[in-house]
Amino acid sequence: MPIRCAIYRVAHQSRIEQVTECLRPEQVALDAEEGKKTDLYCENTWSLKVMKQNDVVKEMLATIAELYETEANPQGPYTAKALLVAPFLAPFELAAPCALDSDIRTILAASSHPVARSVLAAQHLLNWGSNPVESNTQAEIAALISVLTLMGPDGPIIAPDLRLGLIYMKPYSYYPLHLHDADETYAIVSGQALWTAGNETKMRGVGSMVHHPSLMPHAFRTGAEGFLAVWRWSGDINTHSYAFTETLETALNPEAHPAEISAIG
Ligand SMILES: [Fe+2]
Repeated sequence: MPIRCAIYRVAHQSRIEQVTECLRPEQVALDAEEGKKTDLYCENTWSLKVMKQNDVVKEMLATIAELYETEANPQGPYTAKALLVAPFLAPFELAAPCALDSDIRTILAASSHPVARSVLAAQHLLNWGSNPVESNTQAEIAALISVLTLMGPDGPIIAPDLRLGLIYMKPYSYYPLHLHDADETYAIVSGQALWTAGNETKMRGVGSMVHHPSLMPHAFRTGAEGFLAVWRWSGDINTHSYAFTETLETALNPEAHPAEISAIG
């Protein structure tokens, strides 16, 4: 049996069974009887699995692209097109669940937004935690969120001049003021947050598109729900300019932002 198939069977038996349902019964019987044909069965299963996974991912990318097709910013239609045609570095395959996997599934299931539905369907393939600015972020702050990079210069979908992904932020958390060279747009697909963008602070919920021009400080405070959003960087997408503009001590001090805390509940 090929090594990758053996590993797949041990680690993901339930999903193998789901895929097996799509195979001809006689092929499954041969698999049980003959090792040689087991190899063929495994290869067929593997190919079928990747095909089905790519369909799920393409559906997710199509729903995300719809968010950007009508964006007034010219980067919107460009982003939509990139999501639909940019090459994959490699097929999306089963990903190990991240530490916040169950929380992410819960908030996705609570939303009827098309992107939330399609991300939930693809969740088992998504490599959450691949935050491109992780090295610029203190561990206490990084622990408040989970980030999935879907598109960028390093993939998994190749785009030399865009970065795009998903972000989940835990309930009752404050992600402090920060900025970066990139122009940024957030599209919230589940939950809500008290959102600071420049001089404006207001609640942002499902359906909100929030724009941060280059170097505009922004911060998020969550209540009981947390939030999940699609983020997109365009323009100068370097990661080295990512910086916090308030201290960790201030950010984590519950007395530091009393009005905001009372607003979020
Ligand atoms: Fe940002």
